Amino acid sequence: MTPLPVTMESEQQLFFHNYARLPLAITHGEGVWLVSDDGTRYLDMIAGIGVNALGYGDKRLVDAISAQATKLIHASNLFMMQPQFELAEKLLELSGLSKVFFANSGTEAIEAAIKMARKWAAQFGNPDKKEVVSLSNCFHGRTYGAMSLTAKPQYVNGFEPLLAGTGMINFNDINDLEEKVSNNTAAVFIEVVQGEGGIHRISQPFIDRLKELREQYNFLIVADDIQAGCGRTGTFFSYSQVNADPDLVCLAKPLGGGLPLSAVIGSDKVADVLSYGNHGTTFGGNPVACAAGLAMIDAIHKDNLMENAETVGNYINDEMQKLAAKHPQIIDIRQYGLMIGITVNKEAKYYAGKALQRHVLINATSINVIRLLPPLTISREEAQHCITTLDEILTEETAEKNC
Ligand SMILES: Cc1ncc(COP(=O)(O)O)c(C=O)c1O
Repeated sequence: MTPLPVTMESEQQLFFHNYARLPLAITHGEGVWLVSDDGTRYLDMIAGIGVNALGYGDKRLVDAISAQATKLIHASNLFMMQPQFELAEKLLELSGLSKVFFANSGTEAIEAAIKMARKWAAQFGNPDKKEVVSLSNCFHGRTYGAMSLTAKPQYVNGFEPLLAGTGMINFNDINDLEEKVSNNTAAVFIEVVQGEGGIHRISQPFIDRLKELREQYNFLIVADDIQAGCGRTGTFFSYSQVNADPDLVCLAKPLGGGLPLSAVIGSDKVADVLSYGNHGTTFGGNPVACAAGLAMIDAIHKDNLMENAETVGNYINDEMQKLAAKHPQIIDIRQYGLMIGITVNKEAKYYAGKALQRHVLINATSINVIRLLPPLTISREEAQHCITTLDEILTEETAEKNC
């Protein structure tokens, strides 16, 4: 049988229609560039939606993966495996927390955290202490629990009923927070920097009040650092920048160096919450993914990539502010390390399409936000290429309008 060509027509024929793919067949990557099947190089400011922290082709990562694959690809959690132990130890060292659970994707980490929160809350003898709440405009994933915390109509419509006992607090609204948490709250889920929601950071007063209310009502704070974590915002965990002091932390995206891996890290408070058989997954903590994760974390530290995220991120912000002064299409810019949101006055996918024509990959989120999540290895010159391209697109748009 001749294989189908990798085209949009074949895509329509083969797959459920749940992804709005770009008409681009990628064969490989080099540094911060993706290469398509016709040999064209694209500057990648998306990095696999915040996954490819080291860009493409990092030899240390590839070597770690091949060395582990040669030894053992999978054995299951019936056994103890060195890379899993080493990665768990590393995450505990970095977080100062007590216990780790590994899964495969962000949404699975959130599911595990929801289950842990409810089981933890059950010990207090209040049958109503089951509520898990999140913040408006958030994104926590697409399985039932995570989707119920996400609750944006575009993710939820048609899939109801959602998980019972979930709720939502208006983002950064302290009055709403005070109204919505109580003795019945088991956990509050936060993204310190909302990613899919358009790059918005939680406010310090909101976090401070949340921590006070945790003292009063005894609930867990769960930091979803799936997109903002692993160095992207300039520190390994984004929550440390606002002293969120979470009880549970969820990591995924870059954690497996591009292989599927996620983790829930928990404090002493929840250390004994799970017992044998309570929760688990066949693939979670796969040794190849863990070896890749270790290589990725090592490279982030050795190459000072968190500092790079901060410096190049600040540079992009400064240059984008200059563009904003020139182009009224830019309404606002929010930048936290290399997590950057640019609000524009029309659908951001218009600019993503124009940038694609110029061989630069940018992402559109929250309708009118351009989101930049480049590899943490990006240089100032490479970032400048993206800025120059955006400048050209905005200038051309104005010229066309004035014709
Ligand atoms: C903050 C956040 N949480 C959870 C998820 C879900 O992760 P996954 O797509 O790996 O299930 C995402 C994915 O974009 C995310 O950005």
